[in-house]
Amino acid sequence: MGEAVLGVRDLHTHFSTYRGVLRAVDGVSFELKRGETLALVGESGCGKSVTALSIMGLVRRPGRIVRGEVLFGGEDLLRKSQSEMRRVRGGRIGMVFQDPLSTLNPTFSVETQIVESLRIHGVAKGKEARERSIELLEAMGIPAARERMGAYPHELSGGMRQRVMIAIAVSCEPELLIADEPTTALDVTLQAQIMDLLAEIKEERGLSIALITHDLGIVSQFSDRAAVMYAGQVVEQGAVAELLEEPLHPYTQGLLRCVPRLGRADVALTPIEGSVPDMAALPPGCRFAPRCPKAWDRCRDELPEMREVKDDRFVRCHMYGEEESPMDEPEVV
Ligand SMILES: Nc1ncnc2c1ncn2[C@@H]1O[C@H](COP(=O)(O)OP(=O)(O)OP(=O)(O)O)[C@@H](O)[C@H]1O
Ligand SMILES: [Mg+2]
Repeated sequence: MGEAVLGVRDLHTHFSTYRGVLRAVDGVSFELKRGETLALVGESGCGKSVTALSIMGLVRRPGRIVRGEVLFGGEDLLRKSQSEMRRVRGGRIGMVFQDPLSTLNPTFSVETQIVESLRIHGVAKGKEARERSIELLEAMGIPAARERMGAYPHELSGGMRQRVMIAIAVSCEPELLIADEPTTALDVTLQAQIMDLLAEIKEERGLSIALITHDLGIVSQFSDRAAVMYAGQVVEQGAVAELLEEPLHPYTQGLLRCVPRLGRADVALTPIEGSVPDMAALPPGCRFAPRCPKAWDRCRDELPEMREVKDDRFVRCHMYGEEESPMDEPEVV
């Protein structure tokens, strides 16, 4: 078992809203091992982006990290100051977001933005930074990189912008890359190209990647392990091959039944009934219980703990509890 690059422990990030406290991230734990790609997967609104923002110290009001630990390089990032976190971000942790236009500064050229990142983090400056930037753009598969250095973000295509984002993200040779839906805004062909690029730089640079996606195809193709999130919590975690082959949590099973290629051929394609709970009014028991075809009384009353059911396979479901299991009993209606 590899060493963990990132350990998120019992992370709670809440938002104060006029409707009350919205528990966007509510007890998230997972570990990312060195050299692996860990997918954070789940439906819209389950807390994937807020988890990423919490790790990077980018939660802003009305959001607040209530408790938890984000262990990185032997330190808890949640205890670091804003200025320390500014050095970590873009330095030891690179970030790629869905929409490069909202992340890249529209008023600066590509050159200025990459060179600035290298300068701020003390990697290179002046002519050296410029040459390094060109090399980086070339390594990201950007043709005519030298000429493109003068371009502004809006002058580039979506795919090129995303490549520039990735160039900036890896410019300071981070250990960890956090990619939040890096290809969602792109068409299918570009999606594949960008994912291939990420896979390539991961290998070449020995990166570890936290890959946020709602796309199980991307999970199966590009990640080693996955943490499945539902309503602010991780409900299942394990090696991707195993998790897709034999999903344990009824939510993961439901997710897979929505995907034709990944779902088992003998199971009809069916969406999960019902909708995600209101994060400001979460049910008392298991958050998936209202939609779960296998739920029984205990599921509605008591929130299940995350349990390691076998080596490196975690699940938050009463069906896999040590004492009582209804799996062999007739279903209670
Ligand atoms: N600034 C904010 N203020 C209030 N609520 C917020 C804020 N940001 C996020 N939330 C809420 O937190 C919850 C989790 O949001 P998050 O963006 O993490 O979801 P997600 O899993 O990334 O979804 P998606 O797949 O759509 O990107 C949602 O209920 C969302 O409405
Ligand atoms: Mg998101």
